[in-house]
Amino acid sequence: MRIDITPSSQTCGATITGIDLSQPLSDTIIAGIRAAWLEHHVLSFPDQTLSDDDLERFTLYFGPFGDDPFIAPIPGREHVIAIQRDAAETAPLFAENWHTDWSFQEHPPAGTCLFGITIPPSGGDTLFANQHAALDAMPDELRARLNGKQAVHSAKNAYAPEGMYGEKDEGRSMDIRPSEEAKETRLHPIIRNHPETGRPGIFGTVGYIAGIDGMDEGEALPLLMELYAWQTQDQFVYRHKWAPGMLVMWDNRSVLHKATGGYEGHDRLLHRTTIGAYRPS
Ligand code: SIN
Repeated sequence: MRIDITPSSQTCGATITGIDLSQPLSDTIIAGIRAAWLEHHVLSFPDQTLSDDDLERFTLYFGPFGDDPFIAPIPGREHVIAIQRDAAETAPLFAENWHTDWSFQEHPPAGTCLFGITIPPSGGDTLFANQHAALDAMPDELRARLNGKQAVHSAKNAYAPEGMYGEKDEGRSMDIRPSEEAKETRLHPIIRNHPETGRPGIFGTVGYIAGIDGMDEGEALPLLMELYAWQTQDQFVYRHKWAPGMLVMWDNRSVLHKATGGYEGHDRLLHRTTIGAYRPS
């Protein structure tokens, strides 16, 4: 079996066909997918019929399961969460701000797999911003101000009891569990090399970044906002359009992502797994 890889014509992203992910994959195919993932950062596999067992098996080809805090897994599973929005839901959209998944962890996840089950007829695209391309094109003057700086990552704005998905968040179909633990902080370099490819990129963005180590807020926030404006420009963005039965895997070390709306009155349901941090063998 060989896989067919069709790059998107945008800054990142590729579609992979010629493969049935409901069947176990050979080492050669897995290596081919990993290479394509590292090159294109976001891969989509259309026309798949996958159970949660299949989704978990696929995830484990690329690393251990990551730890998903603050969102309860679906019943009967430890490692699958539902990204869900019901047709009548009025709560603010989930994950509508640019972010990279769980960047506030000590060892943030390598990647995320998201399988489309119920997909609205239009809207609900996911946007991905290529953080290698954003760094490559960054003016020297901005890069010099960011080089060597450590960002203070935290989930507090989202998952603390006072956060966006906290105690005042009502009418949401997703099972989100806010916690004081969201206030913990971790440092990660703003500019760093990808752990597998060594390619330099920007890691994370304001939202899960609450400050810059050693800088006061008045100085750090304008710099983080300047970085945000740079790293999320249209020229670095790939717009992913979903279809039912499509699996997408993305590299959290290379891209930011965000959800979009525009499907009021329609259900949307996807199952998500997390690929844990890469540990070289
Ligand atoms: C996510 O950030 O996992 C959700 C993306 C989406 O709903 O499009």
